[in-house]
Amino acid sequence: MEITYRDIQFIRSFHEELYEDLKPLRKFAEENYIPIAKPEVAAFLSFMVRLKKPLNILEIGTAIGYSTIIMARAYQNSKIVTIERDINLAEIAKKNFKRAKIEGRIDLICGEAEEVLDNLTNEYDFIFVDAAKGQYLEFYKKIREFVPQDGIVLWDNILYKGYVVGEEHVKHKRRTIVYRMREFIEVLKKDKNFYTVILPLGDGLALSIREE
Ligand SMILES: C[S@@+](CC[C@H](N)C(=O)[O-])C[C@H]1O[C@@H](n2cnc3c(N)ncnc32)[C@H](O)[C@@H]1O
Repeated sequence: MEITYRDIQFIRSFHEELYEDLKPLRKFAEENYIPIAKPEVAAFLSFMVRLKKPLNILEIGTAIGYSTIIMARAYQNSKIVTIERDINLAEIAKKNFKRAKIEGRIDLICGEAEEVLDNLTNEYDFIFVDAAKGQYLEFYKKIREFVPQDGIVLWDNILYKGYVVGEEHVKHKRRTIVYRMREFIEVLKKDKNFYTVILPLGDGLALSIREE
C-alpha cells in the first residue's frame, strides 16, 4: 500500500505552522497568491538547517521572506544571502525580517538570480533554491561552484505540479518549463560530485549533498 492523498493531508496537518508569528505571513501569501513553502517543506527545511548548522546560507527566491525566517531561526549563527527579483516582494520581506528580529543576519539582494550569482564569491554550505522553475539548470551550473564538500542544496518544486513525471500532453505555456526541469533532473542525477535524492514533499523536493 503506497502513500495516499489522505496520508499526505495527515502529514500536512502534523506539521502545523512552526512559529505562531508566521501565521499572518502565510495568510498574506495565500490572499495575494504568493507561493511560499508548504508547512511540511518548511518543517523539513528547518530540520535540515538544525542538522547541518550552516554558517553561510544562500537562498534563491525570497518572496516575502517566510522560508528565510524559518532557516534563520533554525540556526542562530547562520548568515543568509537571499535573492529576490520582485522589488515589491523584497520590500515586504525586509519588513518581515525586522519584525522577526533577524534583519542583522540577512543580506537581501534584489535582482535576477542569474546575474546576482555571477557576482557572489563566498562558499555556501546550505542552499535553498525556490525560484523560476525553468531556470534550475542555469542556477545549478552557477551554484555548484559555491558548494563546498558536504554542502547541501535543496531544490523545491522539482516535480512541477506533476507535469514533470506525467506522460500526458503538456500545455504549450508549461512545455518549456517541464522540458527544462526534466533536463535539469537528468543532469543532476549524472553529476558525480553530488549525491541526490528526491523526496515526495510539497511539490517534489530534491536534496543534494556535495561529495567531492
Ligand atoms: C516560490 S517563491 C519563493 C518562496 C519562498 N522561498 C518561501 O518559501 O517563503 C519564488 C520567488 O522567486 C522569485 N524569483 C523567481 N525567479 C527569480 C529569479 N530568476 N531571480 C530572482 N528571483 C526570482 C519570485 O519573484 C518569487 O518571489
